[in-house]
Amino acid sequence: MKVTVVGAGNVGATVANVLATKGFASEIVLIDIKEGVSEGKAMDIMQTAHMLNFDTTVTGVTNDYAATAGSQVVVVTSGIPRKPGMSREDLIGTNAKIVKSVVDQALKYSPDAIFVIISNPMDAMTYLTLKDSKLPRNRIIGQGGMLDSSRFRYYLAEALKKAGYPATPTDVDGMVIGGHSDKTMVPLVSLATYRGIPVTELLSEDLIKEAVEATKVGGATLTKLLGTSAWYAPGAAAAALVEAIALDAKKLIPCCVYLDGEYGEKDLCIGVPVVLGKDGMEKIVELKLAGDEKAKFDESVAAARDTNSKLGDALK
Ligand code: LAC
Repeated sequence: MKVTVVGAGNVGATVANVLATKGFASEIVLIDIKEGVSEGKAMDIMQTAHMLNFDTTVTGVTNDYAATAGSQVVVVTSGIPRKPGMSREDLIGTNAKIVKSVVDQALKYSPDAIFVIISNPMDAMTYLTLKDSKLPRNRIIGQGGMLDSSRFRYYLAEALKKAGYPATPTDVDGMVIGGHSDKTMVPLVSLATYRGIPVTELLSEDLIKEAVEATKVGGATLTKLLGTSAWYAPGAAAAALVEAIALDAKKLIPCCVYLDGEYGEKDLCIGVPVVLGKDGMEKIVELKLAGDEKAKFDESVAAARDTNSKLGDALK
C-alpha cells in the first residue's frame, strides 16, 4: 500500500519515519513545497532502512503531486505550526488556504484516498476538508484525540507515581474527546483506569485535576519548551491512525470526524471515539457522558463551531 505525507516539516517527517519503521507500507511519498527538503528527509530515512530493518520505500518530491498518485491514505500536515503564546486557532488565517489547496491537489491523483488531517486548527481543517472535497465522511479523519489521549495517559502515569503506584503510560487507559484545543478538550476522567482500576479510586481530586489540566495544555507546554509545536507524539499518533486504516485493524481510537446526529450534534467535526478500519471511520461509538463531561463536551462543540465560522474569512 502507498501512503502520501504532505508536508516534510517536523511532524510530516516523523509520520514518514514512524510509518517506515512499522514496515507495512510498500511506499511512502513525502511531499513539500520547499525545494529539496522532502528529498533530503526521505533519503535520510531510507538510510536507516538497514539498521531498522524495513523494506518500505520512502520517496521525497517537491510539489510534484503526480508522484503521490494512487495513495490509499493521504496525511496532511501542511501549514505553519504555532509559536509560544499562540493558540491553534490563531493559525486559521494561514493554514485554511494551504490545507484546501493541498487536499484539492492530492485528491486529483488519489481519488479513493482516506485523508488524515493534522494541520491546525485541526477540527476546523478537518471540517474544511470535508466540505471542500465533498467526500463521504468516513474518509476524512482528523488526528487529535489519539495524541491528546496519549498525553493524558502520560500525565495520569505521572500522577499515579506521585501517589505511590509505579505506573508507566502503557499501564494506563484514558481517552480525550472534544476539540483538539487547549481550553476545551475533554479528558474523560470517569473512564480512565490503571490496569483496570478506576483512577478515581487511587488518585486524590487534586492529582486528577493536575493531570487533566496538564493534558489540556500539553501541546502549549511543549511549544513553550521547543519554540515550535511538538512532533514526536503528533507524528506517532497520525502513524497509528494510518496503521489502523491500512491494516483494517478496527481499532477504537478517538478521532475528529463529522457528526450527523451523533452526540446530538450535526454539521461539525469534533473528537469522538470511532472504530478505524479499511474504510476509515467505520463506526462512531456514542458514550453516555457523565454530567460534567457532557457539559464540557457541549462547550467544546460551541468552540469548534465558533472556529468553523471563521473559515469563510480565512479562505478569502
Ligand atoms: C500539538 C499540536 C501538534 O498538540 O497540535 O502538539
